[in-house]
Amino acid sequence: MGPQLSVSFTGLRFDNPFLLASAPPTESDSNIMRAFDAGWGGVVTKTIGLHPVVNVAGPKTRFLRATPDSPHLSMQRRPGSALHSSWNWELISDKTIDWWVPRLGRIKQAYPSRILVASIMAGSGSDEELANWQTLAVACQNEGVDALELNLSCPHMDRKDMGSNIGKDQELISIVAQVVKQVSRVPVWAKLTPSTTDIVEEARAAFLGGADAITSSNTFPSLPLIDPETLEFEMNVDGMVSSGGLGGPAILPLSMAKMAELTQAFPDKAFSGIGGIADFSHALNYFLLGCGTVQVCTAAMLDHAVGPNVVHRLLSEMRTAMERRGWETLEDFRGIRRDRVVPHSRIRRPDAKAYHGGYEAEGYAAPEAPTTTKA
Ligand SMILES: Cc1cc2nc3c(=O)[nH]c(=O)nc-3n(C[C@H](O)[C@H](O)[C@H](O)COP(=O)(O)O)c2cc1C
Repeated sequence: MGPQLSVSFTGLRFDNPFLLASAPPTESDSNIMRAFDAGWGGVVTKTIGLHPVVNVAGPKTRFLRATPDSPHLSMQRRPGSALHSSWNWELISDKTIDWWVPRLGRIKQAYPSRILVASIMAGSGSDEELANWQTLAVACQNEGVDALELNLSCPHMDRKDMGSNIGKDQELISIVAQVVKQVSRVPVWAKLTPSTTDIVEEARAAFLGGADAITSSNTFPSLPLIDPETLEFEMNVDGMVSSGGLGGPAILPLSMAKMAELTQAFPDKAFSGIGGIADFSHALNYFLLGCGTVQVCTAAMLDHAVGPNVVHRLLSEMRTAMERRGWETLEDFRGIRRDRVVPHSRIRRPDAKAYHGGYEAEGYAAPEAPTTTKA
């Protein structure tokens, strides 16, 4: 018998640990069904809210590309360039809950054994707003969704009581998790923003409120670059820009650092890792740090909008890696590098004789030879 790719996460059985993250790939029932056909183990819907949503004029996402052997970084598509990151200022779903509800039901009827997670978001500034979280949770779970993901992390909401703005407020995180848990019959995951001082504190607040898992990371707050010829931001409307979110390869190491903090602080809790995943070697980082599932956005957007080749590659590379190492399930390697991340002071220093100050490495000038003064 070959390795087993299926996993159990927050009490749910997934055919494999690879999910499409809440984003354009999951913005419609047709996309989500195509994603299940392609082989994704689960799908998190584009975030569903109750407030009307109107996106900015023009493109909502573009991709920053690097040119090998040159420092050139730009959103211009050009031959031979490599993906650096995605940048977006897209809001949550611009479809209403009434649009989503029958579709969630139809997806679950068509794919009863696949895991469908509804991402939801409301405000939190009043009891009425908090009740909106419950309205959304109940409406989605009545259609048979398997779990709820609380969006506490969208980096470009104007409202002070929404998205990453509440993702920085531990008390509100706890309250929102608690309010949703009061009405939920399904697991509740909290998606946190990486843009905080100490993400462990936000995760603690979510767990205290009853969250069953933490998802990290959402995109990192950032700006598009300024074109040196036109002096305009590479993405703008009428010359204006606002903070948006960086995703894709550039955030893999950043998001890993957040995940390492989380899994070390709560080794027995469930974590879904996101950020810069396009193949199994990327996903492996999150598994080795302790994640039970991972999610993909940017790489899937660039692969026929829902990532059929990406998931195919993830599955075949995972199978091959497990066969090669004799791993039977994800549990055989989940978390086995979690404890290798330590305070800087615990990293070994060489003894005086072997000390070269690290100057032998790329990027440093050769150390100056000690000057000998002639008598
Ligand atoms: C265009 C775009 C829209 C997104 N919309 C949402 C959203 O509605 N809800 C959410 O929780 N995350 C949203 N995200 C964040 C992604 O789910 C994911 O956390 C992020 O892109 C990092 O993953 P990646 O490096 O694979 O892109 C969005 C990302 C992009 C690029």
